[in-house]
Amino acid sequence: MEKILITASKTYEVLTGEGLLPRAGRLIRPVLSEKAQKLCIVTDDTVDRLYSGVLSDSLTDAGYETVKFVFPPGEASKSLDTLSELLEFLADHQLTRSDALIALGGGIVGDLTGFAAASYLRGIDFVQVPTTLLAAVDSSVGGKTGINLKAGKNLAGAFWQPSLVLFDIDTMKTLSYDLLLDGAAEAIKAGAIADRELFSYIDRVDRLDAPETIRYLSSRAIEIKRQVVEADERDTGVRQLLNFGHTVGHAIEKCSDFSISHGHAVAMGMVICARAALALGWSQEDCLSPLLASLEKFSFPLACPYSAEELCNAALKDKKRMGDTITLVIPAALGDCRLKKIPISQLNEFIKAGLS
Ligand SMILES: NC(=O)c1ccc[n+]([C@@H]2O[C@H](COP(=O)([O-])OP(=O)(O)OC[C@H]3O[C@@H](n4cnc5c(N)ncnc54)[C@H](O)[C@@H]3O)[C@@H](O)[C@H]2O)c1
Ligand SMILES: [Zn+2]
Repeated sequence: MEKILITASKTYEVLTGEGLLPRAGRLIRPVLSEKAQKLCIVTDDTVDRLYSGVLSDSLTDAGYETVKFVFPPGEASKSLDTLSELLEFLADHQLTRSDALIALGGGIVGDLTGFAAASYLRGIDFVQVPTTLLAAVDSSVGGKTGINLKAGKNLAGAFWQPSLVLFDIDTMKTLSYDLLLDGAAEAIKAGAIADRELFSYIDRVDRLDAPETIRYLSSRAIEIKRQVVEADERDTGVRQLLNFGHTVGHAIEKCSDFSISHGHAVAMGMVICARAALALGWSQEDCLSPLLASLEKFSFPLACPYSAEELCNAALKDKKRMGDTITLVIPAALGDCRLKKIPISQLNEFIKAGLS
């Protein structure tokens, strides 16, 4: 089992390894209040069928009473309605301030559960048990929690750190290859920001779905996320580097009406950004070739079906835009990204350079 210690407004460990779910009760006990009695497992229907039995047994064996809140999978569930049902459920089951929530699932479960934990009784403990690669490498670490509003994604939420993150690599066996790719895109992004060695590693591996590959990629990505979150927990500076590929990626997601998933869109966004930065002389070296090589190795679909104009219009509606400028994340060198503010009038030209 590998441990990474995160020292943010709360200090907690990320434990990664095989066979962790059946040991979850024993691993969780030391991080919760001694008075904790009742734990609420929050999950979606798919993950419930696969993994809540073993988790719940392990919590019961460790002496806890468990209750379970299950909702339908999908982004539509990351809503005020589900949040309100969950909060009422916690109150109906009389969870106290010493009790805790366990988020068992992907990023949707984690974001919703974290926000419920941040707001129930003005804040109780929660544990992240990520079961998608994306949740393991990205969303379960760093304390961003939240839900979607009608006006857009992630528009309400809180910074609320978990008490522990338990990533059982065995849960990756039931994940589709496309969902593995979504997580791999974020891990490759982490490499592009801060770890050029990750690209040499991918060059040497055979398969993304081998446990060693997953262990390596998640461990590197979590370590990089640790550094960035510890330097800027509230996302006012360097944490924005984690948005590499995301301005264009979000635009691709929107143009596709979300039929292109986040990780796939970010992969395309990173390629467009690296190609544009190279063409415009903003990179000191060719970051595009190693990036393309690693994405192609895992068979990412990389052809972007939208024009620069379509992407630019979608990007300019993004909530992260401030006034007349937009902040892009540019690869200065492989493993070294920088923030660059450009006037919004230049965005179209930038994306055009990235598509050609
Ligand atoms: N908080 C953050 O910092 C942060 C960062 C990145 C993304 N996010 C959020 O994460 C969400 C996306 O997360 P996601 O991609 O994990 O999506 P998800 O939670 O919807 O999971 C994807 C699908 O996989 C299924 N699934 C989960 N684990 C499985 C397993 N082990 N085997 C088989 N099927 C499994 C789920 O039921 C779901 O249908 C988005 O809402 C995004 O906004 C948050
Ligand atoms: Zn992302």
